[in-house]
Amino acid sequence: MPKSARIDASAASAEDEVTRAVLRRVEESSEGRMRELMLSLTRHLHGFIREVEPSEAEWMAAIRFLTETGKKCDERRQEFILLSDTLGATMLIDAINNRKPEGATESSVLGPFYQEGAPAYDNGADLADAATGGERVLIAGRVIDLDGAAIAGAELDVWQTAPDALYAAQDASGDSFNLCGRLTTGADGRYWFYTRKPVSYTVPGDGPVGAMLSAAGRHNWRPAHIHFKLSASGYETLVTQLFTDDDPYLGSDAVFGVKDSLVVHYVATDDGLRLDHDFVMTAAS
Ligand SMILES: [Fe+2]
Repeated sequence: MPKSARIDASAASAEDEVTRAVLRRVEESSEGRMRELMLSLTRHLHGFIREVEPSEAEWMAAIRFLTETGKKCDERRQEFILLSDTLGATMLIDAINNRKPEGATESSVLGPFYQEGAPAYDNGADLADAATGGERVLIAGRVIDLDGAAIAGAELDVWQTAPDALYAAQDASGDSFNLCGRLTTGADGRYWFYTRKPVSYTVPGDGPVGAMLSAAGRHNWRPAHIHFKLSASGYETLVTQLFTDDDPYLGSDAVFGVKDSLVVHYVATDDGLRLDHDFVMTAAS
């Protein structure tokens, strides 16, 4: 065997031995779910390293990136959630944890801008403060079950961007609920409210995740959408978003939240734009 082949063979065996040693250690010391998680993490992490063979400088850059991601987090900013979102991990976790039967409204992520305690409105209310610009829209529909039966008393918690592309949760005062509100369906399962057509917005691009997106040739835009969190006694809570069909970023959402069934069309009427949409909830198991 030539000398270079011997070096290759010996290096390959040392590389494999590291992985085997870690797996053995986990098998000897862990149990249950922790054991399962650590074994899989080891296999996938070592597999990733083996596949891309990072230089030591690249590995240090990766560690610096994660360090900076942690340092960017504070009370109002969660850079690790943004990292999870932009890698598609949040949507994958959402998909795995919210498997729904055919015909049920699909879920999407809650996102970072949900605020509990939005004001309760009667159907027909306008969720926008008087000074809010933008295109006024009427959103109306029913909340029903898989058989098409009305769900009475379902609560729709709604939040979205203002025309300046910001959520109320991003208001410096911290107590704005503009374009946020809770509505409740009547006996016929119907809901309706006025709001403003949502606009596209960017997820934060001034931190390490923004730098990662730029380096990977990606933008940080999300297509326009309205968030909904529906709850009703006896039904699974439904967290979802409705995406505007004429948005330029529909096919390249920075956080991969778009599903075809959640893309909606606003119809022009004499009274402004209108969107009719029914939500289908599944019974709690
Ligand atoms: Fe959003």
